[in-house]
Amino acid sequence: MSAESFIKTMNDGYTFKAESVKIGVGILNGATVPEAGVYLPLKTMNRHGLIAGATGTGKTKTLQVLAEIFSDNSVPVMMIDIKGDLSGLGAPGALNEKIAERYKLLNLDYIPEAYPVEFLSLSAEKGTRLRATVSEFGPILLSKILGLNDTQAGIVAIIFKYCDDNKLPLIDLKDFIKILQYTSNEGKKDIEQLYGKISTTSIGTILRKVVELQQQHADQFFGEPTFEVEDLMRINADGRGMVNILRVTDMQDRPKLFSTFMLQMLDELYASSPEEGDLDKPKLVIFIDEAHLLFSEASDALLQKIETIIKLIRSKGIGIFFSTQNPQDIPANILGQLGMKIQHSLRAFTAADRKNIKTAAENFPLTEFYKTEDLLTQMGIGEAMVSLLNEKGIPTPLVYTLLCSPRSRMDVLSGNEIDAIVSQSKLAAKYNVSLDSLSAYEMLTQKLEQAATGTVIDNKQAGKKEKTILDNPLIKSAMRTATTTLTGYIARSILGSLGLGGHRRR
Ligand SMILES: Nc1ncnc2c1ncn2[C@@H]1O[C@H](COP(=O)(O)OP(=O)(O)O)[C@@H](O)[C@H]1O
Ligand SMILES: [Mg+2]
Repeated sequence: MSAESFIKTMNDGYTFKAESVKIGVGILNGATVPEAGVYLPLKTMNRHGLIAGATGTGKTKTLQVLAEIFSDNSVPVMMIDIKGDLSGLGAPGALNEKIAERYKLLNLDYIPEAYPVEFLSLSAEKGTRLRATVSEFGPILLSKILGLNDTQAGIVAIIFKYCDDNKLPLIDLKDFIKILQYTSNEGKKDIEQLYGKISTTSIGTILRKVVELQQQHADQFFGEPTFEVEDLMRINADGRGMVNILRVTDMQDRPKLFSTFMLQMLDELYASSPEEGDLDKPKLVIFIDEAHLLFSEASDALLQKIETIIKLIRSKGIGIFFSTQNPQDIPANILGQLGMKIQHSLRAFTAADRKNIKTAAENFPLTEFYKTEDLLTQMGIGEAMVSLLNEKGIPTPLVYTLLCSPRSRMDVLSGNEIDAIVSQSKLAAKYNVSLDSLSAYEMLTQKLEQAATGTVIDNKQAGKKEKTILDNPLIKSAMRTATTTLTGYIARSILGSLGLGGHRRR
């Protein structure tokens, strides 16, 4: 194929009406073609994407480059950093011989740059703590995460309703466990009178699954203060989108907790973001590195939920980019919804590998310039096959691309550098406080203690209206101090009973 027709095809394919950013240059017959720039149109970046390739081929650096591009263009970013190798975004890169050579081929100047980063954490790791309450999960999502069947999910729905009706806030897993125990013991008669028979065996199963979640240290995630997702959408004073890096290096052996968190966050983002018309660029882009972890232990119900959210969330201007070794790690229904594909080199060791490569090649647009299947195993580091959606939603021509290098540091930040960033963070100051408000656990414990010691006044005998647990003076005073939480909770409960789910809404 001639270089002229290659240049023409790429120029036609990668010229866009709205803003676009160069990510690399095309390669033909083993040589870069400087005239064949490869551009990323910001407008279609809510159509999601995939960055795939074998270990060491450049996936994480590609994420880094894309995050820089979004931040530069006032698009905030959230990065799920499973291996802890994205912190370098917070410091400027350094020019070396290799990078100088690459940028010469790219026909671009290399300008080192540090990006405004915010470190987030689900556990005791450094950064702003992300937490959510059990009631914010709502019965449906919680049941999905626990992998419950319909009967068990029905019980969870009843328990949520009972807690709503009796103003028992479900904040953390301790609350949820307490109410489950209460339902199968002291509260059984009461609750069954209201809602019908509840199987103790089913409650036992639910309890077991909650404990399983707890064993993955989910306790650290359920609680208060809850993270407001709009805090992910901040723009820096200099107009750059904030790069929120969620450090979850301790999550690799806890896939359940990871998918729990991801789903809740996506659900919350979906529920709290307004429907957007035709935006020129996304409002937020989420990168999920090592995305196979999200799917590896997910139940069918959970997968379906992820699929639905991914389908719907793009109309809210939110793009999701998955990074994983093999495209086949992503369930077909989700893979089919990813508009941008950056495929780094794959390895062909086994028969299964070769089959995967064939499938990957077949999923790319047809090309007259390359033997896609062969090329898929032959590309160098920081090179990839690229195809994305143009502004009409049509795939751009497949192009073998030499990609830019990050302008921020390719290596990680030191512990001290991370500490310095966290200590300056307004978000960390806002969220890294501990709230211990009165919730179902304390309220039920007290109720049971009172029953045991006989301190509860028999209201009927006293001729007063039936008292609720909330009339207890101790609880009343505690409630006064927890008004904000409870007001929010009650508002949410009302929304919940209107069928609006367990979400915080503005
Ligand atoms: N775009 C790039 N420009 C320059 N060097 C790169 C680029 N991509 C990858 N590299 C080099 O390859 C190494 C591995 O890349 P990485 O992104 O960590 O791979 P992966 O995430 O696929 O395992 C990097 O540390 C860097 O030295
Ligand atoms: Mg990586």
